[in-house]
Amino acid sequence: MKIEDVKKICVLGAGLMGNGIAHVCAQAGFQVSMRDIEDRFVDNGMAMINKNLSREVKKGKITQDQMNEILGRIHGTTDMKEALNGVDVIIEAIIENRDLKCKVYSEIDQICDPNVIFASNTSSISITDMASATKRPDKFIGMHFFNPVPIMRLVEIIKGYETSDETYRLIDQLSKKLGKETVLVNEAPGFAVNRLLLPFLLEAVFTIQEGVASVEDLDKAITLGLNHPMGPLTLLDFVGLDTTLFIADYMHSEFQDSKYRAPTLLRKMVRAKHFGRKSGIGFYDYSKTPPEPRLFR
Ligand code: CAA
Ligand code: NAD
Repeated sequence: MKIEDVKKICVLGAGLMGNGIAHVCAQAGFQVSMRDIEDRFVDNGMAMINKNLSREVKKGKITQDQMNEILGRIHGTTDMKEALNGVDVIIEAIIENRDLKCKVYSEIDQICDPNVIFASNTSSISITDMASATKRPDKFIGMHFFNPVPIMRLVEIIKGYETSDETYRLIDQLSKKLGKETVLVNEAPGFAVNRLLLPFLLEAVFTIQEGVASVEDLDKAITLGLNHPMGPLTLLDFVGLDTTLFIADYMHSEFQDSKYRAPTLLRKMVRAKHFGRKSGIGFYDYSKTPPEPRLFR
């Protein structure tokens, strides 16, 4: 398949990442189907896309007509067959659970034309492992976007053990058509960015758990001291504490290295369904304006 043959993209998952990926694909001119498991998740994803595009109209980056054209290219659905109909590339952004991803991949492998490419937006999970759930390991690849997708310019491309060079070249060209820059990463748990980022984020939680600093002061220290755009606790709430815990546990099990062990505090927060911005509460309480830092002592 050549990049000019790619007309329709299916995005699986309409959550934090899926709606952003659908947004940038439609903005680049592709027909997009965005599938989630419940109407409310599809509706939330469409609402996020609307909100982010309206922001661009307000800033004069696109016109209202262009926004309407982009929205016209996105079809939200819960029907898997409808979502997969006539697609050339699938970009998967469902929850960071290896067994669930493999179940979905083996299901869609039987539905999709053999030439369809499967690209996973996974943060950490082995591409080779997920590819083995399909009969198309040569057409299976990692295409790791960063949050928020419309703004962050990187895509990490990860080849699995049998990913073909043709698949790599196509996904590299597709990433660039989406306005992204790419790096090629040899498969390892957490790839490149999260290999470095996770220990940093987990140590931030340990720092709170041990009472070294308050949420507000630790975020302030990192934004002012290291010039990060967001402090680590704000970033954790932005990424999702549930997703972060999934990634940490996966990397810990793969590396058997304590630098990826999850702090008890993080696990407790996720068990309490305090996922961060997406659940309304994490290290900050988002029901307050501005969001209020939580006290942990
Ligand atoms: N979705 C889309 N666009 C958003 C957004 C969102 N959630 N939040 C802000 N923006 C846009 C704004 O519209 C604005 O756009 P323009 O530049 O066109 O005006 C721009 O981002 C800046 O927004 P703000 O001025 O409101 O706020 P900011 O300057 O603080 O930027 C931010 C917001 C871009 C999110 C910035 O805080 C940032 O870059 N934070 C770090 C994000 C980060 O580290 N992401 C990687 C996480 S790790 C990951 O993604 C990998 C994984 O597997 C977990
Ligand atoms: P999220 O929880 O916001 O969204 C996941 C979505 O998957 C939910 O809407 C859920 O209903 C949906 N889903 C679950 N099972 C499904 C199925 N069988 N079919 C279709 N949809 C299904 O999570 P997220 O943050 O968007 O993460 C999605 C993927 O992207 C994960 O692999 C994650 O590691 C990766 N990722 C996340 C970030 C981040 O900052 N959050 C950054 C890069 C990559």
